[in-house]
Amino acid sequence: MTPTFSTVPIDLGERSYPIHIGTGLLGHAASYANLPKAAHAVVVTNTTVSPLYADALVSALAGHYSAVELVVLPDGESHKHWQTLNQIFDALLGKGCDRKTILFALGGGVVGDMTGFAAASYMRGVPFVQVPTTLLAQVDSSVGGKTGINHPLGKNMIGAFYQPQMVVCDIDTLKTLPARELSAGLAEVIKYGPIADLQFLDWIEANLDALLARDPQALAYAVQRSCEIKAWVVGQDEREAGLRAILNFGHTFGHAIEAGLGYGEWLHGEAVGCGMVMAAHLSQRLGLVDANVVDRLTRLIAQAGLPTQGPQLDASDNAGRYLALMRLDKKSEAGDIRFVVIDGPARAAVRGAPDALVREVIDHCCR
Ligand code: NAD
Ligand code: GLY
Repeated sequence: MTPTFSTVPIDLGERSYPIHIGTGLLGHAASYANLPKAAHAVVVTNTTVSPLYADALVSALAGHYSAVELVVLPDGESHKHWQTLNQIFDALLGKGCDRKTILFALGGGVVGDMTGFAAASYMRGVPFVQVPTTLLAQVDSSVGGKTGINHPLGKNMIGAFYQPQMVVCDIDTLKTLPARELSAGLAEVIKYGPIADLQFLDWIEANLDALLARDPQALAYAVQRSCEIKAWVVGQDEREAGLRAILNFGHTFGHAIEAGLGYGEWLHGEAVGCGMVMAAHLSQRLGLVDANVVDRLTRLIAQAGLPTQGPQLDASDNAGRYLALMRLDKKSEAGDIRFVVIDGPARAAVRGAPDALVREVIDHCCR
């Protein structure tokens, strides 16, 4: 059957590419037409996704490439580090992959970020394609070219901007996603409302039950609108000189939660969901929004199945621990933490805040 899909373009000059969104795309050979010619294609995935979708993807690619190889990584955020990245390089070199090899990232954001970074650096750069299979990866991480790995001292600290050749979002893959992961993806969908599109926030509120029930049409629209907003932002500021930082709404607090608890304890989307509540409280304390904005966002995040209260990271000085971790954020400038705040309807800004105020927010929002 011919799949039905829509396409969102990412307009970056010679690095432009399409994001195809639809059902039945992953195992359909025509989805992968018009990619750079290569002898080798290598599908990088993990132990969870491989048994679900690797055969379908490898078969679909077989008509396009003379050799299609599979590299299966351990699953989880706790494996997003040098040693796992090196497994990809070991496999590529071991299989004799040359500079014309094309990589396919099949999985969630962890596989996508690591495969993208491997593609950026293997033989100084080979092409790659994102085939995201989590909601979070379809609405955010597969798009825009941020790739990388974690360091024990900070999240996503080592990496590169490197754009894929194409993104193929098959909504069907979301049927097998655990409910907790679906909620984590909804955090990044919700994110786009307060920073860019209040009509989309209205739509998410009205369609949250359908999204949680995995209605394919609702999911496809959520992915499409999210990708359109991300494409609009990235098209203006590919390397995060300014505007793109708004996509990190909730991430400054969220990354501190992830690093403070140990990667993988809370899901990235859970940390971002809670981080958005904390960032909204900070916005209110800075006098930028009123309590209604905070309450509305907090309610939606809770209804999406996400935590709205932060964890204790240190029994003796919890706020101090958050502050220390947030100073390592990539947006920090000379040790001053920069927060993405809401400063108007569908408008975000990046700014500093007095430590005392941030401490108040952490004390208020953490158990
Ligand atoms: P993930 O990659 O860990 O995937 C979540 C879990 O779902 C994993 O266990 C995975 O194996 C499993 N899974 C994937 N697809 C599945 C499917 N269809 N059915 C069943 N199980 C499936 O997590 P994620 O939430 O996709 O991504 C989080 C990562 O993305 C973080 O490392 C974060 O830093 C990164 N990220 C990157 C960007 C970016 O711009 N590059 C943006 C946001 C997040
Ligand atoms: N997820 C944030 C970004 O892509 O910039």
